[in-house]
Amino acid sequence: MRKLIAGNWKMNGLLAELEDVASICEAVAAHPSVDTALCIPATLIRSAAGRFADMAIGGQDWHMAASGAHTGCISAEMLADAGAKLTIIGHSERRAAQGESDADIRGKALAAKRAGLAAILCVGETEAERDAGRAEAVVLGQLEGSMPDDAASEWISVAYEPVWAIGTGRIPSVEDVKAMHAAIRGALVARFGTDGSNIRILYGGSMNGDNAASLLAIPDVDGGLIGGASLKADKFLPIVAAAAAA
Ligand code: 13P
Repeated sequence: MRKLIAGNWKMNGLLAELEDVASICEAVAAHPSVDTALCIPATLIRSAAGRFADMAIGGQDWHMAASGAHTGCISAEMLADAGAKLTIIGHSERRAAQGESDADIRGKALAAKRAGLAAILCVGETEAERDAGRAEAVVLGQLEGSMPDDAASEWISVAYEPVWAIGTGRIPSVEDVKAMHAAIRGALVARFGTDGSNIRILYGGSMNGDNAASLLAIPDVDGGLIGGASLKADKFLPIVAAAAAA
């Protein structure tokens, strides 16, 4: 399976940072064996999409309705209209700060499909849940509740992002990542049959140039979802190079 290295810029990036998108795109072009994407603020999508052919440009969030009386919101169709090819759903920052439920996330997955966007569906446990021995149950519960029944590998990927590893510089052990990705793969195959083995499972949470090679070598780690290290080419490129070598 081709690996996917996707950046999540979160709420970072003004028009002045478009040159950073350009230098990231130029850098990743050296590794055509890896699929790459940058999910950037909606305000930058139109300026970035189309200009950078070697890397898919994506958005981060949207309202699940196609249009209507939702002041301040944008729809999946609007992201696609601006040139986005993919989006992120179920990120723990939205589950926690915006109170998004599994049902909301499932609705957004269907909205992405309706608009022709690929989706990266995030799942992950908190530190308290891991300490209580509930990590796998929590993650598989989120997967079951937020993945739509007609999910297919051509438009959906899963990202395992332990909440306690996001932006902290801490990562789970190789054994813990291996066990969680195997559990997610098992659940995907049980639910979606053969296609479940083709759905990419990314790892996210403090992935960087130093730890990417060991994380990407773990079975069923089919790529990475990168926050902080996706903002600059010199931090993002070593991760893409590690994926190319994996
Ligand atoms: P960091 O790579 O900054 O830990 O963020 C991970 C993440 O939340 C990607 O969605």
